[in-house]
Amino acid sequence: MFEWPPKLQLAQTPTPLTPLERFSKQFDDLTIWVKHDELTGMEVSGNKIRKLEFSIAQALEDGCDTLITCGGVQSNHCRATAILGARLGLKVRLILRGEKPDVADGNLMLDYLAGAEISYLPVKQWSTHPDVGAQLQKQYLAEGHKACFIPVGASDEIGIWGYIAACAELKQDFENLGLEPDYIVVATGSGGTQGGLIAGRALMGLKARILAFNVCDDAGYFERKIRGDLTLWRKRYGIELDVRELEIDTAEGYVGPGYALAGPEVFATITELARCEALFLDPVYTGKAFHGMVSELQKARQGQQTRMPGAKNVVFIHTGGLFGVFPQKKGFDF
Ligand SMILES: Cc1ncc(COP(=O)(O)O)c(C=O)c1O
Repeated sequence: MFEWPPKLQLAQTPTPLTPLERFSKQFDDLTIWVKHDELTGMEVSGNKIRKLEFSIAQALEDGCDTLITCGGVQSNHCRATAILGARLGLKVRLILRGEKPDVADGNLMLDYLAGAEISYLPVKQWSTHPDVGAQLQKQYLAEGHKACFIPVGASDEIGIWGYIAACAELKQDFENLGLEPDYIVVATGSGGTQGGLIAGRALMGLKARILAFNVCDDAGYFERKIRGDLTLWRKRYGIELDVRELEIDTAEGYVGPGYALAGPEVFATITELARCEALFLDPVYTGKAFHGMVSELQKARQGQQTRMPGAKNVVFIHTGGLFGVFPQKKGFDF
């Protein structure tokens, strides 16, 4: 039905899929499972490496020796790119949103440690980051380097393959465990993980619905972004799938004060999961999505209207992000 594009083997996969036995006891007849993509590596842990296996493979096919990418100062994607660049002997240039902080904490510290060159772009000028990237590509060319520009989160028609491949892995997990989950839940930020899961679900014939909790923007944004990326993907790779029919289900209402700003309920969820299950979530992505998922499951238990009716087995994709906890230590109540 389709041919896989070039892919590097960089992630530690397959990642485990395990039940949260103690935490799930609060619900009758419902088990929350975790797909442990926080274990795709140690320093490159998380979802981004799955996308970068395809994005960097394409960059190498195109003869690039330099990777340019962009994101927030605490971007997990930028950290993963910086480290994979060091692993593969490629030069990495990051364009980060905002001012240079006084202290390089969390992900940013690892970016510097891995030797990435970093430019900061003030928030007001952030919309120009693709132009800054194009300018840098020209500059590198003049210096004898070919640079590939990977967009925010590697969320484009190439990076989308990362979570299509993850769906093939999930299918195998479900077969091994004799499990038929009702929902696959994930945090969505730049849309590539959600988009990959949606396409992968269709290609692999998974029954579980894909439900994403947005940590920024709104459902309309993800509808447009993902349908656009999937349309480009279908054209580029000649995939026979009617993108218009795919359901893009984004559960709103859990962004809280804003992107990378979490309310006390998210910090409480992170603390509870760390203590109850030794599962470490982060305040920007996984903590918000997990809190959203549990809130929707509790609504179902109380007979209220919910985004997750009839849930019996739910798979939460842990997309990593642990390094993002450290710059937010002040949010914890201990
Ligand atoms: C830890 C973590 N989880 C989830 C996401 C969301 O993934 P995506 O950008 O593909 O929507 C990101 C990145 O944005 C992330 O860093």
